[in-house]
Amino acid sequence: MTQDIWTTVDNYVSEMLVSPDKALDAALEASSDAGLPEIAVAPNQGKFLMLLARSINARNILEIGTLGGYSTIWLARALPEGGRVVTLEAVARHAEVARANFKRAGLADVIDVRLGKALDTLPRLAAEKPDPFDFIFIDADKENIPDYFTWSLKLARPGSMIIVDNVIRDGEVINARSKDPSVRGVRRFNEMLKDEKRVSATSIQTVGVKGYDGFTLALVDKV
Ligand code: SAH
Ligand code: DHB
Ligand code: MG
Repeated sequence: MTQDIWTTVDNYVSEMLVSPDKALDAALEASSDAGLPEIAVAPNQGKFLMLLARSINARNILEIGTLGGYSTIWLARALPEGGRVVTLEAVARHAEVARANFKRAGLADVIDVRLGKALDTLPRLAAEKPDPFDFIFIDADKENIPDYFTWSLKLARPGSMIIVDNVIRDGEVINARSKDPSVRGVRRFNEMLKDEKRVSATSIQTVGVKGYDGFTLALVDKV
């Protein structure tokens, strides 16, 4: 009953408020055809990310965890002229499907896909001394969220917004005895945030087509 109504309401909301978009639909279809896991953000979540990025005029966006690039396309839709998205992906097949999706969407020039484990590609990216990222979406393996967050702070500026997906995990986040590496990753992240003076953060629980989960928003006050 509960998942049914969450799904039905999410579909209703997306139908009412998220305009059909050929590039996004094609990206999902190609990802599914390629057998990628169906764990992209939901349409209404993708639009929410786009609106957040737009609301801070994000020009340089970093994503950790590309999959087939569905969320990446949403983020790219927030960019002003001259903006770019760098997205990090460990699995070659995922990066390949994503690149094809970006090409089809006419976004290949503004999205830079970096193949490799993010803990390898993040230091390489930092070594390029890029302009600070205004908006960072952390959505890869959950056990490394604490490290991804540390890297994100190095790559951010005061005013940058960091969003971390999947931080509630069906409520398992409150289970201090959990052996699930994802849950442990999120819990370690929360311990970090608790004492982190450089950001103001909160977490919001969500329900919808993707079940019961949530995200954290951290606004960088100083770096
Ligand atoms: N952001 C995507 C969903 C990402 S799913 C969307 O909403 O559309 C998580 C992705 O992170 C998967 O593609 C997975 O291969 C990738 N991933 C897992 N571990 C990783 C790592 N260590 N470095 C980079 N990417 C990783
Ligand atoms: C999983 C990963 C995600 O990023 C997500 O949004 C949902 C599920 C997963 O690994 O199961
Ligand atoms: Mg996610």
